[in-house]
Amino acid sequence: MDAAKGIAILAGNGGRILDYEGVDQATRPIPPLVMVPTTSGTGADVSQFCIVTDTARSTKITILGRALVPDITVIDPVLLTTMPEWLNAATGLDALTHGIEAFVSLGHNQLTDHHALRAITMVMSQLARTIDDPTDMVARASMAQASLEAGLAFTNAILGATHAMSHQVGGLLDLPHGVINGVLLPHVIRFNAAQDPLPYVAIATSLGLPEGRATPEEAAMAVADRVDRLARRVGVPTGLAQIGVSESDLDVLATNALLDACMSTNPRSATHREMVDLFRVAL
Ligand SMILES: [Fe+2]
Repeated sequence: MDAAKGIAILAGNGGRILDYEGVDQATRPIPPLVMVPTTSGTGADVSQFCIVTDTARSTKITILGRALVPDITVIDPVLLTTMPEWLNAATGLDALTHGIEAFVSLGHNQLTDHHALRAITMVMSQLARTIDDPTDMVARASMAQASLEAGLAFTNAILGATHAMSHQVGGLLDLPHGVINGVLLPHVIRFNAAQDPLPYVAIATSLGLPEGRATPEEAAMAVADRVDRLARRVGVPTGLAQIGVSESDLDVLATNALLDACMSTNPRSATHREMVDLFRVAL
């Protein structure tokens, strides 16, 4: 779907795709976009985002623009049964990351909060079911809905540090975006919550976490732990080192993550040293 958006940009505007990094750089009209998602997670079928790998710089660039919101999206949960299991897990965790990052984003509002929370609870309750029983169409329909609602949330609220970091690791190693998110998200929740845990309390409450009375800090940690458990349950590695990141990569990864557009709406800013440390705890 992102490739279709990139092709549409060039068909209407010419030039090279890397020329359009940033917000609203494509100023001429583009052909109509009709999307039929076959995964439940990226949200590209309803978002104004187009992510492209810059192979020369080993990073993923973000192209943002209202013209990139598709004109028509046809969502059919039956198509989701054609995914391999690893892709189902990866894209499902991507949808979860979209929901959580949109909910705590500096750009959130009541409408995006509504969609984000619904997406979070649906992924948490249904993703594992689609892996246990790939033919469970109730769970598949919920994941299709979760992907859609997470997309509606993040296209308006934008994202956060998990995506800013994930874009760098994905560009460096060409690994599945959702898998990298699954590794990073618990660490980013703990990092953000160390400054302000309150945005995570509503997420914890919607998930029925934690049991009994808890401080905001405990609630935020319970959300991080629950994300961690789901990621392990669906087969995501426990750290970045397992997928090929090494200590010597961290300086460049941190520098580029801080330049990523998604960092601008993360609820906690980070120094270069803090970003290196955040990558290191995720190793
Ligand atoms: Fe994503």
